[in-house]
Amino acid sequence: QSFFKPIHGALPPPPTTRNTKISVIGVGNVGMAIAQTILTQDLADEIALVDVNPDKLRGEMLDLQHAAAFLPRTTISASVDHSCTVGSDLVIVTAGARQLPGESRLNLLQRNVSLFSKIIPPLSAGSPETVMMIVSNPVDILTYVAWKLSGLPANRVIGSGTNLDSSRFRFLIADHLDVNAHDVQAYIMGEHGDSSVALWSSISVGGVPILSFLDRQQIAYEKQTLENIHKEVVQGAYEVIGLKGYTSWAIGYSVSNLARTILRDQRKVHPVSVLAKGFYGINGGEVFLSLPTQLGRSGVMGVTSLHLTEDESQQLQKSAMTILEVQSELGI
Ligand code: NAI
Ligand code: 2OP
Repeated sequence: QSFFKPIHGALPPPPTTRNTKISVIGVGNVGMAIAQTILTQDLADEIALVDVNPDKLRGEMLDLQHAAAFLPRTTISASVDHSCTVGSDLVIVTAGARQLPGESRLNLLQRNVSLFSKIIPPLSAGSPETVMMIVSNPVDILTYVAWKLSGLPANRVIGSGTNLDSSRFRFLIADHLDVNAHDVQAYIMGEHGDSSVALWSSISVGGVPILSFLDRQQIAYEKQTLENIHKEVVQGAYEVIGLKGYTSWAIGYSVSNLARTILRDQRKVHPVSVLAKGFYGINGGEVFLSLPTQLGRSGVMGVTSLHLTEDESQQLQKSAMTILEVQSELGI
């Protein structure tokens, strides 16, 4: 029984087949920033929310549903039970402990590994075809843990990685040069966080390589300024956490930017955390860290080969070693 009467002689419409489902695990600051950005950007037909706190979960679900008159049509469900995520195209994991002011991401490891051992296996069992994106920190190691626990192929387990750090980097460069951040192509690679690597040698603005431009114009090489910009990228999250207690909006936009590329099969290149073994001379073990990666509907399509200077290459190896050292103590 339809609410609308068909026009004379028309056949009933065929059932719609388009149904993109995204699940967001953990409805804290980060999960909700991601869910609401995905909603406003019309990336899913269905969003399933999961959390262990039933009141917070229902409250967040209702609050989003009450915006239905202003948003694209999306079914929003919520449950403390993972079964509501069954059949997801994209599962985004944000559940877990977050840093207190001054605390490092690596401090969260043990708490979040034991939580992952409970939540990851049922998520991948319920959505065996899904792409899984890890956001919880420390994101690179937890992406490795999720890959091991999920049984999913490596191309379908991705960490949000330095897509966020690279956005901070592009903002700061754009601010420094008074240009639009969209016109700044710049990557941060490696660990999301303290040992991340800024690729100065490949930055371009509006297609113009920045270091050779500065050289040609005989503008004094602003090495200290450049180093300060990278320091600001690394310190950025600590500063925001010190001021407001957590970070949320930038990671919300960063993850929905990745969700769009994946679910719409955009095949764009993003710096995200992937199984890095065999790339850029990283051969020490199975480690996830951010490399410039082409993403599409099947997840990771490939890793691009940027030219790195000797110094950048060494920093990347160091970042990989830092992660591997911590990882080796996990016994996973
Ligand atoms: P939060 O404390 O606001 O939210 C965490 C949520 O996880 C809570 O609602 C909690 O009830 C839920 N949760 C706990 N155990 C659960 C379980 N077994 N199943 C489902 N939900 C569960 O924390 P916030 O600020 O949302 O941060 C979440 C994580 O994201 C942290 O690990 C944080 O460090 C990380 N993060 C990562 C970023 C990145 O760039 N990768 C950026 C910002 C935060
Ligand atoms: C961020 O960089 C804390 O990892 C989190 O915003």
